[in-house]
Amino acid sequence: MKTLKYYFGRAKKEKWAIGQFNFSDWSQVRGILEAAKVLKSPVILGTSEGESKFVGLQEAVAMRNVLRKKYNLPIFLNLDHGKSFEYVKEAIDAGYDMVHFDGSKLSLEENIKMSKKIKNLIGWKGVVMEGEVGRIGTDASKMYTEKFEIKEEDLTQVKDAELYVKQAGVDVLAVSVGTFHGMDVTGVSPNLRMDRLREIKSKIELPLVLHGGSGTPENDIKEAIKLGICKININTETRLAFSNTLRKTLGVISLSAGGEIVPYKYLPEAIHAVQAVVEKNIKLFGSEGKA
Ligand code: 13P
Repeated sequence: MKTLKYYFGRAKKEKWAIGQFNFSDWSQVRGILEAAKVLKSPVILGTSEGESKFVGLQEAVAMRNVLRKKYNLPIFLNLDHGKSFEYVKEAIDAGYDMVHFDGSKLSLEENIKMSKKIKNLIGWKGVVMEGEVGRIGTDASKMYTEKFEIKEEDLTQVKDAELYVKQAGVDVLAVSVGTFHGMDVTGVSPNLRMDRLREIKSKIELPLVLHGGSGTPENDIKEAIKLGICKININTETRLAFSNTLRKTLGVISLSAGGEIVPYKYLPEAIHAVQAVVEKNIKLFGSEGKA
């Protein structure tokens, strides 16, 4: 199997993006991988600190190992938004392919210092490191009922990004260019700042990462990929598909009225719903057939 760095290089050159789809249990993983299999796409499975604490870092790695073999696909595992050196180290030690260090709450200086420390820890291990400059608005569990306001000071400042990349030595860079974690209640979050992305791209060579992919209009995604975005993170869309389908399948029927209690009978619909969302995104990101 080719390395994740190989796929980043190819995505950058050929102008497509690898999808990172987050999960917190095996059913979601199954939906994600079925989509990757149908479309012969490389895929990154993502776990935030919360998700990986629920799943277990070692359990996630064991699952990836088994599934890589079974599906015969380039399946990678990323720690999404690792916030502390200790937890990022745990993920690396457990065998994650990639770690995202989110130092967005730190000063630029501290962010660089911590990122360098992680990069040194990685050494020659081959783990891909994603750094972040700027602040991506957050609350992945929520559908925003009011328009989400992106503050200018939260966007990635080009000079900061340049300095960070030069000093921290990361492999890929997450940028804040108008997306946010979660989704507008309308289902569409049309905030992408192409002007800022274009400016970043003109100064920075690294593959760029777009967080908060859910709900971003298709044309914006396509344009962003042309401007150097090589990985797009999706969580809310798959969470919604999974949870809403499960709610519908389980319904409000009480047990005495014959409600289904067998997980392997009520989960497949939710798995298919996740698969459909992931297939839609893989096609949009252009990673179909790139495995
Ligand atoms: P969404 O939940 O908005 O898709 O964002 C996911 C994400 O960026 C994870 O890091």
